[in-house]
Amino acid sequence: MPEIHYATSTGPVNIATLKYWGKRDKDLNLPTNNSISVTLDQNDLKTLTTASCSESFKEDHLWINGETYSLETPRSIQVLKDLRSLREELEISNNELPKISQFKLHIISENNFPTAAGLASSAAGFAALISSVAKLYKLPTDYSELSKIARKGSGSACRSLFGGYVAWEMGNLENGEDSKAIQIADRKHWPTMKAAILVVSDMKKDVPSTSGMQLTVKTSDLFQYRINEVVPKRYIEMKESILNKNFQKFAELTMKDSNSFHSVCLDSYPPIFYLNDTSKNIIKLINLLNEAAGKLIAAYTFDAGPNAVIYYEEENQDYVLGMLYKFFDKLDGWSNDKFNPANAKIFDSFPL
Ligand code: DP6
Repeated sequence: MPEIHYATSTGPVNIATLKYWGKRDKDLNLPTNNSISVTLDQNDLKTLTTASCSESFKEDHLWINGETYSLETPRSIQVLKDLRSLREELEISNNELPKISQFKLHIISENNFPTAAGLASSAAGFAALISSVAKLYKLPTDYSELSKIARKGSGSACRSLFGGYVAWEMGNLENGEDSKAIQIADRKHWPTMKAAILVVSDMKKDVPSTSGMQLTVKTSDLFQYRINEVVPKRYIEMKESILNKNFQKFAELTMKDSNSFHSVCLDSYPPIFYLNDTSKNIIKLINLLNEAAGKLIAAYTFDAGPNAVIYYEEENQDYVLGMLYKFFDKLDGWSNDKFNPANAKIFDSFPL
C-alpha cells in the first residue's frame, strides 16, 4: 500500500478596509490598486484544510464541507501547478526528499462559518489550501512569496496568509512578481481593535466579484478617479492610521472607502447594487452613533454583498453592540424594505 503524505493548516477570513476592485491582468490576477485588510480571529472564522497526496490517488480532488468540488478550474489548476513546481525544485536540489510533486492531491476543507453567508469564503479557502499544500511539500514559509500564488486563486486570498493588518501591494511588473501581500502590523500591535459581522442576508451575491469588477473597469468613469487619485493617497493614510493606532482616522478612511467602492459599482453600466435597504440603515445607524458620541467610535464596511462588518475599539464594545442589537429590530421602520430580524444575525465580536 503506497504511503499517504498529509498536512493540515488553516486559512482565516480577511475584511478589506481599502478595497481591491479591478484587475489589470485577469489571468495573473493583478489588481488595479493597492488594498488593505484586517485578518479576523481564526477561532471564529476560518477554513481548516488537510492536503494529502499519494501515488495511489487517481486524480486531484477537493471536498468542502463534505461536498465534492472540481480542482479543474483555471485558477485551481494554476495554483496547484505553481505549488508543484516549487516542490519539484526542492526535490531536484535535495535528493533525499521523497518525490511527491507529481502525485495527485486530495484536499479536504471545512469552514467553521456559513459558506453561503458571503463572508470572504474564497479568501480563507485558498489561503488554507495554499498553506496546507506548502506544509505538505515542506516549502519555505515565506508568506509574501506564497501570497503570489494565493493571489492567482482569488485576489483577496493573498492577504489571508498574514494575521493582523495586511497590505496587498499591486506591483508594477507585467509578470506579477511584485504583486504580493505584506504585513503592516501584527494583531498584538492594536489589541483593542474589534470587529463584528452583521449578516443581513445569507443569499449568494447577485454579481460575483470577478465579473463585477470587470464590468466596473470597462464602464465606470468614476473608477479612473478612484484608482488614480483616491486610493494612492488613502493607502498611505490608512497605513499611517494603523501604525499610529489612530481609530478616528482609520474609521473615517474605512467608511469612505466602502462608500467609494459602492459608488463605482453604481457607476458601472449596467449598475451593480450590493447594498440593500438594511445595509443602508446600518450605515445610518453607525453615523448616528458616531454623531451622538461626538467622535468616531464605530466604522462600517461592506464587501460585494449586503452584510456589514463593523470595526470598533474594545472600550466601546458594550455601547456599539448594545445599540446595534437595540436598533436592529427597528430598522424596518426606517425604510419600506421589510426587514426580518431573523435574517440579521450579529456574530459575536472577535478580537482580531
Ligand atoms: C469587495 O478576491 O473575491 O471583497 O480576485 O476575482 O477572486 P477575485 O476577487 P475577490 O474580490 C474581493 C473584492 C472585495 C474587496 C476586497 O476584499 O479587497
